[in-house]
Formats: sequence, structure tokens, C-alpha cells
Amino acid sequence: MANDDVRRVKDRIDIVEVVGDKVRLRPAGPGGGYIGLCPFHDEKTPSFRVSRERQNFHCFGCGKGGDVFTFVMETEGLDFRAALELLAERAGVELTDFGGGRGEKKRSAVGLHEVMEIAGRSFRALLSAPEGEAARAYLARRNVSPEAAARFELGWSGSSWDTLWRILKSEGVSPRDAVDAGLAQEGQHGLYDRFRGRVMFPIRDVSGRLVAFGGRIVDGEGPKYINSPESALYSKRRNLYLLHAARKAIQEQSRAILTEGYMDALRLHMHGHGEAVASLGTSLTEEQAKLLKRFSSRCYICYDSDAAGQEATIRGMYTLQNFGLDVCVISLPVGKDPDELLNSEGGDGLFDEALAKARPLVLQHLHTVRPRLEDPAARRGGVDSLFDGLLQLPPTAITPYVPQLAADMGFYPDQFWRELEQRRRFSRAEPRRAPEEKPEGKGRPNAERVTFDALEAALCSLLWRNPELRAGGREEVLALLSDSRVKEIALAIMMESPEELETRWHSTGERMAPACIACGDSFCDELEFSQARAPDADLWSAVCGALRRKRAEERMRLIDARMKRHEATP
Ligand code: UTP
Ligand code: MN
Repeated sequence: MANDDVRRVKDRIDIVEVVGDKVRLRPAGPGGGYIGLCPFHDEKTPSFRVSRERQNFHCFGCGKGGDVFTFVMETEGLDFRAALELLAERAGVELTDFGGGRGEKKRSAVGLHEVMEIAGRSFRALLSAPEGEAARAYLARRNVSPEAAARFELGWSGSSWDTLWRILKSEGVSPRDAVDAGLAQEGQHGLYDRFRGRVMFPIRDVSGRLVAFGGRIVDGEGPKYINSPESALYSKRRNLYLLHAARKAIQEQSRAILTEGYMDALRLHMHGHGEAVASLGTSLTEEQAKLLKRFSSRCYICYDSDAAGQEATIRGMYTLQNFGLDVCVISLPVGKDPDELLNSEGGDGLFDEALAKARPLVLQHLHTVRPRLEDPAARRGGVDSLFDGLLQLPPTAITPYVPQLAADMGFYPDQFWRELEQRRRFSRAEPRRAPEEKPEGKGRPNAERVTFDALEAALCSLLWRNPELRAGGREEVLALLSDSRVKEIALAIMMESPEELETRWHSTGERMAPACIACGDSFCDELEFSQARAPDADLWSAVCGALRRKRAEERMRLIDARMKRHEATP
């Protein structure tokens, strides 16, 4: 359970942000790496690295390293438990495994997830039951096959007032939990279902927990979609539909595709774009930007063709860009949303075309505003609109587009910059400032200097991240290592799962092993930069090869020394 808490907190926290509060970081190379001045020892040139991808930090100078928990423990002087509580709070995660006065809260939070899973199962069962006929026909009309429905866990709510509530009751769910989970409401004659007569789309959070539902009306009166209410379980600002299913593809494709509707994201997945997510009917939030950024820094926005050009929508996109995502906007043929387009004849081709022609946000904004720029009477408004957006961005994000922007807006480039500067001074929308230069905790005495041989640490790092490598021969691996501490760590990794180890190391306050792995990670990252993101297996053979040579050289030196002392013969 503690394990689960640690996982959930880690899933929701980005180490780059946590460290970024204390240390001024700047991006270093591809792959989500950052460097800065180490907060644990005095230095003038940065040797402190943070990896977004691996969610850890490491200092080449003093050897400190570890994950986000280690960082908080070290900088705040907390024990693991306190660090976990602090980070859980920051992540909005309710810890399940804490006693002491919060018992009541804890039981119901665990309970609610179970209630959601029961509901999800029941909806799925209802879809294949006889009473699901209308829903099945609806899905068939929309060209969603039974296989696709199963893959995306779609369901049917039933059409009576209390189909779900009766099932929940029979499974021992209390009225209060049913209401707290947002599944039932209090009426004059007892509880009744929130979702009736609807095809159900389950919404999972980034770590895969079922936290909400969206329900699409099949026929009759009522809003097209009803969604779960905001609750202890669910905050729509902090979620994206299908993110859990898409996170791997987003990483692999180095981009996310963001749509407006459930069906749009789902259809994209069905058509081979597993990196699609949907925004759940809000304007885009900071939290969603941060979520996406954990998996890739590029985001393609694919809204309904009528919405993509609206300035209000574009303003929302600046939220994403402002948080360091590269935003591109896909313009679809008029009158179609992504679902309709892909579902029509030749739709795949048209979509790919639109994808290839996607415009960076600034250029999309310019494109939208251009008709006004060309009309002398409306020009002023167009220029204002553009500057309002641009003011939210750092200059580096604007520079590439200045020639085109200036030309279309009727400025010389230097005039454009002056105008921007002037408006920046007058606007309250100051760009986000980088965190203070002077990191806290700097200059603290560093008691233990833990340093490792980078190659040996790299071996641990690779074992840690890749289960296939762990399955190899233990003895051969150990023979490559000379540092007994590293040997011990490597052996532990080969014998226990990373999850088990992580929990144990945290609870015993073990610092050396995480530091060693983080050191190896940084080393592998550097190797990767020079080898264009090599697969683990290649890194592994490179590292093993180098270690083998090193061990052989040592043996040679040893024999050499013995020969000199006449203890060995040629
Ligand atoms: P749209 O009105 O564009 O619907 O709403 P859609 O996605 O094309 O729906 P289908 O294809 O007719 O089924 C876009 C998104 O806005 C939210 C939903 O998330 C929806 O997918 N929405 C829309 C609601 O939450 N409630 C509504 O009543 C309508
Ligand atoms: Mn639609």
C-alpha cells in the first residue's frame, strides 16, 4: 500500500518542477534533461543534472543523486514519510496508508475507487446484456465495433432510474459512497442514477485509476454529454481523456494529439494515432499542460474545424505553449470534427495531410488574424490580438517567426520588438520569471561525499530500467564490477524488483543506491546523446565492453607487478 502511494505520487509529480522551485534549471540536450548549479555544494559551473524522463537528479560534482523524494528529504531535511506527505499534498494525492486521525477519510477514498471499478464493470456488462441492444446499435451506427468498445471499456448505463444504484447496493456500496463517487443523486424517493440512457466512456487518470465517466446520450432529450462531477476522486482540470492509454505512444511519437471530444480521441486511437487525448470540455489548464509535458514537449491540437480558428480557442492554446510545450495546430477541412473526418471515405489521407500541414501556434494565430490585418479598419484589433498572445511567450519562442510576423503586421523587425517591449511593460501579464538564482540549502555542509565510477553506476542504471538485462547471468555481471558497494546494489537489483527495492530503500533511508543509479542514468544519457538515443541493449554492450577492458587492464597491471616482483612467470 505504501508502495502504491509512492507510485501514485511519483506519477503525478514532475521532478523538474520540484527541483525548479529551488534551482534555476536550463534544458540540456534532447530527452528532457536539465542542468543547473548544485544546491548541495558550492559551484560556479553547473554539474547538477535533472532528468524529466527518468525523474531523477544527479550531481557530477558531489555525487548526490536520487529521485524526487530524495531531493525533498535532502533539501528540506525531512525523513521519507514527511517527504511523501509533502509531495502527496502537492500532487493532490490522498495517502491510503496513514493512520492517526485520518482513518475515516482514508477508508472512504479507497472505497470510492472500488465503487468506480464496480460501476465500470457493470456498465460494460450492461452493454452486452439484452437491454444494451439500443446502445450496441448506436455504437454500430457510429462505426464503433464491439472489439473497439471492449478495448476502450465502453459501457451502457441502462435506461431506468436506478439500474446502476441497484447493482451497487447489491454489491454492498453505501448510499453515501454512491453519491460521493458522483454516480447517484438524492431524490424524493431515494437515490437515482446520474447516468441514464447513455453510452459510458470511462475516464482514467494518468496512473490508470478509474476516476470519472462521460455519458453520451443515445436518443431523447437532455444534454449530449453528462460527466462525473468534480469530487475528491476527479478534477477535470487535472485529467485528459485516454491519457493513460496514450502515454506510451506520446513518448514514442514525441508528440500528443489533443482533441475536444471523447469520440475524437477514441477514433484517432482506432486509426493508429495512439498518442491522442481529449481535453474534457474545459479550456486548457496549466495542470493539463504539465501532465502532457511529462511525456512529450510537443502537442498537436486538433479541434473541430469551426473552433480551431477562434481567437478564444487560440488564447487557450497559449496556456500550453506558455508551459514550455511546442504547440502546433491542425486545421481540418471545414465542417468536420476529427471523428467525422476519419470516419468518412478517404478520411485517413485527409487527416494525414492536415497533420503534415499543422502550423506552429504563433503562425496559426497569424493565419487567423490575417484577414483583419489586411483590412485597414480592422488592422489595429488584429495587431492587439497577436500581441496579447505573444506577450505570454518568452522572446525565444517568438524569434523564429519575427520576419513573418513583422511583415504581416506592417512593422520592421526592430520596430516589432520595440512595440512588443513597450506592450510588455504596460501589460500586467508578465512572463513567468525563472526561479530565484540563489538556491536554498546551498552551502550546507555535505557530510558524505558519495561518488561512483560512472561506468559501474551505468551498469546498475541499465539493470534498473530494463528487466531483460536483469534476467542475464548474475556472476558475469558482478565480475565486471570492482566497487563492492556497487556490486551489492547490482545484486539487489537483479534479485528484487525495482518497486520492492524502491519502497525498502525509502523506508530505510538508503541514499547510496538511488544516488548510484542516478549517476549511472546521467552517464547513459550522455552516451545516448552521442549515440542518437541508442537502445538499452546497445548501451549495455558498450558499458560491459568498457568495463571488461578495464578489468582486463587491471589484471594485466597486476600480473605485470607480480612479474616485476618475480612472483609470476611470463
Ligand atoms: P461536441 O459538442 O463537439 O461533441 O463536444 P462531440 O465530441 O462531437 O460528440 P459526438 O461526436 O456527437 O458524440 C465536445 C466535447 O465537449 C464535451 C464532451 O467532452 C464532448 O466530447 N461536452 C459536450 C460535454 O461535456 N457536454 C455536452 O453536453 C457537450
Ligand atoms: Mn463528434
